[in-house]
Amino acid sequence: MAAGSVVSAIAGRAIIAPDPASLAHLAAGWLATRIDATQGPFRLVLSGGSTPRALYALLGSEYRARIDWSRVELFWGDERFVPYSDPDSNFRMAQETLLSKIDIPSANVHPIPTNGEPADAAHCYEILLRNIYGSEKFNPARPLFDVILLGLGSDGHTASLLPGEPVLEEHEKWVASVMHGRTEPRITLTYPAIASSAAMALLVTGSDKAQAVRKARAGDISLPAARIRAQGEVIWFLDSASASDSSE
Ligand code: 6PG
Repeated sequence: MAAGSVVSAIAGRAIIAPDPASLAHLAAGWLATRIDATQGPFRLVLSGGSTPRALYALLGSEYRARIDWSRVELFWGDERFVPYSDPDSNFRMAQETLLSKIDIPSANVHPIPTNGEPADAAHCYEILLRNIYGSEKFNPARPLFDVILLGLGSDGHTASLLPGEPVLEEHEKWVASVMHGRTEPRITLTYPAIASSAAMALLVTGSDKAQAVRKARAGDISLPAARIRAQGEVIWFLDSASASDSSE
Protein backbone atom coordinates (compact mmCIF):
# COMPACT_ATOMS: atom_id res chain seq x y z
CA MET A 1 0.00 0.00 0.00
CA ALA A 2 1.56 3.33 -1.08
CA ALA A 3 2.56 5.69 1.74
CA GLY A 4 -0.27 8.02 2.59
CA SER A 5 -2.86 6.03 0.68
CA VAL A 6 -6.20 5.84 2.37
CA VAL A 7 -7.27 2.39 3.46
CA SER A 8 -10.93 2.21 2.52
CA ALA A 9 -13.51 0.82 4.88
CA ILE A 10 -14.00 -2.07 2.52
CA ALA A 11 -10.30 -2.98 2.71
CA GLY A 12 -10.94 -4.98 5.85
CA ARG A 13 -8.63 -7.94 6.41
CA ALA A 14 -7.30 -10.25 3.69
CA ILE A 15 -6.83 -13.96 4.27
CA ILE A 16 -4.85 -15.45 1.42
CA ALA A 17 -4.85 -19.16 0.66
CA PRO A 18 -2.62 -20.90 -1.92
CA ASP A 19 -5.59 -22.26 -3.89
CA PRO A 20 -9.41 -22.23 -4.05
CA ALA A 21 -9.81 -25.52 -2.18
CA SER A 22 -7.84 -24.37 0.86
CA LEU A 23 -9.61 -21.01 0.64
CA ALA A 24 -12.96 -22.74 0.96
CA HIS A 25 -11.73 -24.54 4.08
CA LEU A 26 -10.58 -21.26 5.67
CA ALA A 27 -13.92 -19.62 4.91
CA ALA A 28 -15.90 -22.62 6.18
CA GLY A 29 -13.93 -22.65 9.44
CA TRP A 30 -14.40 -18.90 9.91
CA LEU A 31 -18.14 -19.16 9.29
CA ALA A 32 -18.62 -22.17 11.56
CA THR A 33 -16.74 -20.35 14.32
CA ARG A 34 -18.93 -17.27 13.95
CA ILE A 35 -22.10 -19.35 14.09
CA ASP A 36 -20.78 -21.19 17.17
CA ALA A 37 -20.10 -17.86 18.87
CA THR A 38 -23.72 -16.69 18.64
CA GLN A 39 -26.93 -17.62 20.37
CA GLY A 40 -30.32 -17.75 18.71
CA PRO A 41 -31.08 -17.19 15.01
CA PHE A 42 -28.09 -16.68 12.71
CA ARG A 43 -29.02 -14.83 9.51
CA LEU A 44 -26.63 -15.78 6.73
CA VAL A 45 -26.72 -14.28 3.22
CA LEU A 46 -25.42 -16.58 0.50
CA SER A 47 -23.70 -15.24 -2.57
CA GLY A 48 -24.19 -16.60 -6.05
CA GLY A 49 -21.94 -17.39 -8.97
CA SER A 50 -19.47 -20.25 -9.04
CA THR A 51 -16.83 -19.32 -6.46
CA PRO A 52 -18.85 -20.27 -3.38
CA ARG A 53 -19.68 -23.78 -4.66
CA ALA A 54 -16.66 -25.26 -2.90
CA LEU A 55 -17.52 -23.49 0.35
CA TYR A 56 -21.15 -24.61 0.26
CA ALA A 57 -20.06 -28.19 -0.51
CA LEU A 58 -17.83 -28.16 2.59
CA LEU A 59 -20.61 -26.69 4.75
CA GLY A 60 -22.81 -29.54 3.58
CA SER A 61 -20.23 -32.23 4.25
CA GLU A 62 -17.10 -31.85 6.39
CA TYR A 63 -18.50 -28.93 8.41
CA ARG A 64 -22.14 -30.05 8.44
CA ALA A 65 -22.12 -31.54 11.94
CA ARG A 66 -20.27 -28.51 13.35
CA ILE A 67 -23.15 -26.17 12.63
CA ASP A 68 -26.54 -26.07 14.35
CA TRP A 69 -28.55 -25.59 11.15
CA SER A 70 -31.79 -25.24 13.12
CA ARG A 71 -30.53 -21.78 14.16
CA VAL A 72 -29.41 -20.70 10.69
CA GLU A 73 -31.66 -18.65 8.43
CA LEU A 74 -30.55 -18.45 4.80
CA PHE A 75 -31.01 -15.50 2.46
CA TRP A 76 -29.53 -14.60 -0.92
CA GLY A 77 -27.60 -11.47 -1.85
CA ASP A 78 -28.86 -11.63 -5.39
CA GLU A 79 -30.56 -13.92 -7.87
CA ARG A 80 -30.87 -14.35 -11.56
CA PHE A 81 -34.49 -13.93 -12.62
CA VAL A 82 -34.83 -17.51 -13.87
CA PRO A 83 -36.73 -20.54 -12.53
CA TYR A 84 -35.07 -22.27 -9.56
CA SER A 85 -34.59 -25.27 -11.88
CA ASP A 86 -32.48 -23.20 -14.27
CA PRO A 87 -28.74 -24.03 -14.30
CA ASP A 88 -28.04 -20.30 -13.78
CA SER A 89 -30.15 -20.09 -10.62
CA ASN A 90 -28.19 -19.18 -7.49
CA PHE A 91 -30.81 -20.98 -5.44
CA ARG A 92 -30.32 -24.13 -7.52
CA MET A 93 -26.57 -23.99 -6.94
CA ALA A 94 -27.10 -23.70 -3.17
CA GLN A 95 -29.74 -26.45 -3.29
CA GLU A 96 -27.35 -28.83 -5.05
CA THR A 97 -24.29 -28.12 -2.91
CA LEU A 98 -25.73 -27.34 0.53
CA LEU A 99 -29.49 -27.37 1.09
CA SER A 100 -29.88 -30.96 -0.08
CA LYS A 101 -27.18 -32.04 2.40
CA ILE A 102 -28.25 -30.36 5.63
CA ASP A 103 -31.18 -30.67 7.98
CA ILE A 104 -32.42 -27.08 7.93
CA PRO A 105 -36.07 -26.19 8.54
CA SER A 106 -37.64 -25.13 5.24
CA ALA A 107 -39.08 -22.10 7.03
CA ASN A 108 -35.49 -20.93 7.55
CA VAL A 109 -34.68 -20.86 3.84
CA HIS A 110 -35.62 -17.62 2.08
CA PRO A 111 -34.90 -17.77 -1.66
CA ILE A 112 -35.48 -14.64 -3.71
CA PRO A 113 -38.72 -15.00 -5.73
CA THR A 114 -38.18 -15.33 -9.49
CA ASN A 115 -41.75 -15.52 -10.73
CA GLY A 116 -44.00 -12.73 -12.01
CA GLU A 117 -42.35 -9.36 -12.65
CA PRO A 118 -38.81 -8.58 -11.40
CA ALA A 119 -39.87 -5.38 -9.64
CA ASP A 120 -42.67 -7.20 -7.83
CA ALA A 121 -40.31 -10.01 -6.83
CA ALA A 122 -37.85 -7.48 -5.42
CA HIS A 123 -40.67 -5.81 -3.48
CA CYS A 124 -41.82 -9.14 -2.07
CA TYR A 125 -38.32 -9.94 -0.84
CA GLU A 126 -38.02 -6.51 0.69
CA ILE A 127 -41.30 -7.00 2.57
CA LEU A 128 -39.97 -10.32 3.87
CA LEU A 129 -36.77 -8.67 5.10
CA ARG A 130 -38.62 -5.76 6.71
CA ASN A 131 -40.98 -8.16 8.50
CA ILE A 132 -38.06 -10.23 9.78
CA TYR A 133 -36.16 -7.11 10.84
CA GLY A 134 -39.23 -5.61 12.52
CA SER A 135 -38.57 -2.04 11.55
CA GLU A 136 -38.74 0.17 8.47
CA LYS A 137 -35.34 1.72 9.16
CA PHE A 138 -31.98 0.10 9.78
CA ASN A 139 -30.43 0.57 13.21
CA PRO A 140 -26.64 0.29 12.90
CA ALA A 141 -26.53 -1.21 16.36
CA ARG A 142 -28.85 -4.03 15.24
CA PRO A 143 -27.70 -5.41 11.87
CA LEU A 144 -30.26 -7.35 9.84
CA PHE A 145 -27.74 -10.04 8.88
CA ASP A 146 -25.11 -11.80 10.96
CA VAL A 147 -22.92 -12.62 7.98
CA ILE A 148 -23.15 -11.72 4.31
CA LEU A 149 -21.12 -13.67 1.77
CA LEU A 150 -20.27 -11.83 -1.43
CA GLY A 151 -18.36 -12.48 -4.63
CA LEU A 152 -16.62 -10.08 -6.97
CA GLY A 153 -16.73 -9.77 -10.71
CA SER A 154 -13.69 -8.76 -12.76
CA ASP A 155 -15.62 -5.56 -13.55
CA GLY A 156 -15.85 -4.80 -9.83
CA HIS A 157 -19.51 -5.72 -9.33
CA THR A 158 -20.72 -7.56 -6.29
CA ALA A 159 -24.12 -9.18 -5.79
CA SER A 160 -25.90 -7.65 -8.77
CA LEU A 161 -24.69 -4.14 -8.12
CA LEU A 162 -23.54 -3.79 -11.70
CA PRO A 163 -21.43 -0.90 -13.06
CA GLY A 164 -23.47 1.94 -14.52
CA GLU A 165 -26.81 0.62 -13.30
CA PRO A 166 -29.31 2.86 -11.43
CA VAL A 167 -29.30 0.40 -8.52
CA LEU A 168 -25.93 1.88 -7.51
CA GLU A 169 -27.78 5.07 -6.55
CA GLU A 170 -30.59 3.25 -4.72
CA HIS A 171 -30.39 4.11 -1.04
CA GLU A 172 -34.00 3.72 0.09
CA LYS A 173 -35.05 0.29 -1.15
CA TRP A 174 -33.52 -2.79 0.49
CA VAL A 175 -34.01 -4.97 -2.60
CA ALA A 176 -34.09 -3.89 -6.24
CA SER A 177 -34.49 -5.35 -9.71
CA VAL A 178 -31.70 -4.79 -12.22
CA MET A 179 -33.08 -4.92 -15.74
CA HIS A 180 -29.93 -4.34 -17.80
CA GLY A 181 -26.33 -5.44 -17.81
CA ARG A 182 -26.84 -9.18 -17.94
CA THR A 183 -28.67 -11.61 -20.21
CA GLU A 184 -31.47 -11.93 -17.65
CA PRO A 185 -32.89 -9.51 -15.10
CA ARG A 186 -31.38 -9.72 -11.61
CA ILE A 187 -32.78 -9.15 -8.12
CA THR A 188 -30.24 -7.78 -5.66
CA LEU A 189 -29.80 -6.47 -2.16
CA THR A 190 -28.96 -2.78 -2.29
CA TYR A 191 -26.11 -1.00 -0.56
CA PRO A 192 -28.16 -0.16 2.57
CA ALA A 193 -29.28 -3.78 3.01
CA ILE A 194 -25.79 -5.15 2.44
CA ALA A 195 -24.43 -2.65 4.96
CA SER A 196 -26.78 -3.97 7.63
CA SER A 197 -24.48 -6.92 8.27
CA ALA A 198 -22.54 -7.68 11.43
CA ALA A 199 -19.82 -9.22 9.28
CA MET A 200 -18.98 -9.53 5.58
CA ALA A 201 -16.85 -12.09 3.79
CA LEU A 202 -15.88 -11.68 0.15
CA LEU A 203 -14.67 -14.84 -1.52
CA VAL A 204 -12.61 -14.20 -4.64
CA THR A 205 -10.42 -16.53 -6.68
CA GLY A 206 -8.58 -16.29 -9.95
CA SER A 207 -6.07 -13.92 -11.50
CA ASP A 208 -8.81 -12.34 -13.62
CA LYS A 209 -10.18 -10.79 -10.43
CA ALA A 210 -6.81 -9.54 -9.09
CA GLN A 211 -7.05 -5.99 -10.43
CA ALA A 212 -10.64 -5.62 -9.23
CA VAL A 213 -9.61 -6.89 -5.78
CA ARG A 214 -6.79 -4.35 -5.56
CA LYS A 215 -8.89 -1.45 -6.79
CA ALA A 216 -11.91 -2.27 -4.65
CA ARG A 217 -9.84 -2.69 -1.49
CA ALA A 218 -8.04 0.58 -2.28
CA GLY A 219 -11.41 2.37 -2.36
CA ASP A 220 -11.68 3.02 -6.10
CA ILE A 221 -15.37 3.86 -6.13
CA SER A 222 -15.59 3.42 -9.88
CA LEU A 223 -16.01 -0.22 -8.84
CA PRO A 224 -19.39 -0.95 -7.22
CA ALA A 225 -17.72 -3.32 -4.74
CA ALA A 226 -15.61 -0.47 -3.36
CA ARG A 227 -18.75 1.18 -2.04
CA ILE A 228 -20.07 -1.68 0.05
CA ARG A 229 -19.88 -1.40 3.81
CA ALA A 230 -20.62 -3.61 6.79
CA GLN A 231 -21.35 -2.73 10.41
CA GLY A 232 -18.51 -4.92 11.55
CA GLU A 233 -15.76 -7.22 10.34
CA VAL A 234 -14.89 -7.30 6.63
CA ILE A 235 -12.77 -10.21 5.45
CA TRP A 236 -11.50 -10.89 1.95
CA PHE A 237 -10.90 -14.60 1.42
CA LEU A 238 -8.49 -14.60 -1.53
CA ASP A 239 -6.46 -17.24 -3.27
CA SER A 240 -2.92 -16.34 -4.30
CA ALA A 241 -4.09 -15.65 -7.86
CA SER A 242 -6.76 -13.12 -6.94
CA ALA A 243 -4.34 -11.49 -4.47
CA SER A 244 -1.61 -11.21 -7.08
CA ASP A 245 -2.05 -7.62 -8.29
CA SER A 246 0.24 -5.45 -6.23
CA SER A 247 0.58 -2.69 -8.89
CA GLU A 248 -0.18 0.86 -7.72
C1 6PG B 1 -24.03 -13.79 -9.24
C2 6PG B 1 -23.28 -13.28 -8.07
C3 6PG B 1 -22.17 -12.39 -8.50
C4 6PG B 1 -20.92 -13.22 -8.35
C5 6PG B 1 -19.77 -12.63 -9.08
C6 6PG B 1 -18.60 -13.61 -9.09
O1 6PG B 1 -25.24 -13.98 -9.13
O2 6PG B 1 -23.36 -14.05 -10.26
O3 6PG B 1 -23.92 -12.88 -7.05
O4 6PG B 1 -22.05 -11.20 -7.80
O5 6PG B 1 -20.62 -13.33 -6.96
O6 6PG B 1 -20.18 -12.38 -10.41
O7 6PG B 1 -19.04 -14.76 -9.77
P1 6PG B 1 -18.10 -16.05 -9.89
O8 6PG B 1 -17.95 -16.57 -8.49
O9 6PG B 1 -18.87 -17.00 -10.76
O10 6PG B 1 -16.80 -15.59 -10.48
